[in-house]
Amino acid sequence: MTSNIVLPRIVCLGKGSINQLNYVLETLAVKNPMIVTDKVIYDLGYIKPIENNLTNQKLSYGIYTDTIPEPTDTSLEAGIKQARLDNHDSIIAIGGGSVIDSAKAIAIVAKHGGHIRDYKFPYSIEKSGLPVIAIPTTAGTGSEATKATVITDEKHNEKMLCMGLGLVPFAALVDYELTISLPKRATADSGLDALTHALEAYVSRKANPFTDAQALAAISLIAKNLRTAYNEPNNIEARESMLLGSHLAGIAFTNSSVALVHGMSRPIGAHFHVPHGLSNAMLLPTITEFSIPFAQHRYATCSRAMGIATNQDSDEIANDKLIKELKALNHDLNVPTLKDYGVNKIEYETLLPLMAKQAIDSGSPSNNPRLATVVELVELYRKVYE
Ligand SMILES: [Fe+2]
Repeated sequence: MTSNIVLPRIVCLGKGSINQLNYVLETLAVKNPMIVTDKVIYDLGYIKPIENNLTNQKLSYGIYTDTIPEPTDTSLEAGIKQARLDNHDSIIAIGGGSVIDSAKAIAIVAKHGGHIRDYKFPYSIEKSGLPVIAIPTTAGTGSEATKATVITDEKHNEKMLCMGLGLVPFAALVDYELTISLPKRATADSGLDALTHALEAYVSRKANPFTDAQALAAISLIAKNLRTAYNEPNNIEARESMLLGSHLAGIAFTNSSVALVHGMSRPIGAHFHVPHGLSNAMLLPTITEFSIPFAQHRYATCSRAMGIATNQDSDEIANDKLIKELKALNHDLNVPTLKDYGVNKIEYETLLPLMAKQAIDSGSPSNNPRLATVVELVELYRKVYE
């Protein structure tokens, strides 16, 4: 079996790596980038040094700050229009996963036309859009390293997965200093998303030796640092480990896949506007328990990589510890149930058949070690409600 691995052309890691922007711009020989961000990042003052830098380089540039959390097709429109009207030749995306996902989608549609719906999975986006330089400010989605973007179709209330080589950013500047001001809730949600990426990449039917190495390294980094990053926001070592972990998890899942947790998580986000990392976390212990019998040794290896089971523990004991730890993490990071989050039970029940179908149609559940039927998915959705 062969494995095709895709990666950004350039990855700059560590403190101050944002200062490598000039080097990347020179490598690309671009003249007119568009900065894509959101208002929070803009107000934090992260954009001003980039603007000063571009001005010093005598480059023209534009700024688009109207991205939204959990981006939708409509939210992209003004950005696509601006990129085209102002003839931008590249995009500098600085922000969390929603910003980088927005930028990647804008880059494709601005260059190749159509509507983002035209690019929905199973369509494979092979041609590159405008080159994207991705600068993450959260340790979570790993979008700076991936060939995926998730955009909600407002008309159909569906989180569309778009995938392909053309979505891989040209460069990623992975600078943990930008994550230090991340609020507690976002630290927890994005960190749990990253942990889910790494776990799912490792147990996926598409896992390969390259992704196994990245995934296990990511699982270890994230599991040993997430609580500290949450409880001590200024802890540099924890922030550095979390951002490296989420980046490696991004590399792992984009070259393997995500699986049932992500497949079931997207419909929860689309219908009830639960943030992505949070809905993953709500599902993770239950879906892991459901899947373990079909990949016992793989899950036990994850448990050992997390540092909660030892080599002396049997796989069965390691997996018991894994479930306990995933539940404890949710407790310690104050992850609510869907009920506590305020999701209406009657509305939830009514939507379950549609959500189960949307989950399966997304393709991700077919990568899970244990394949689930629509009936089983509905039962699993019921189980995680309270
Ligand atoms: Fe995710």
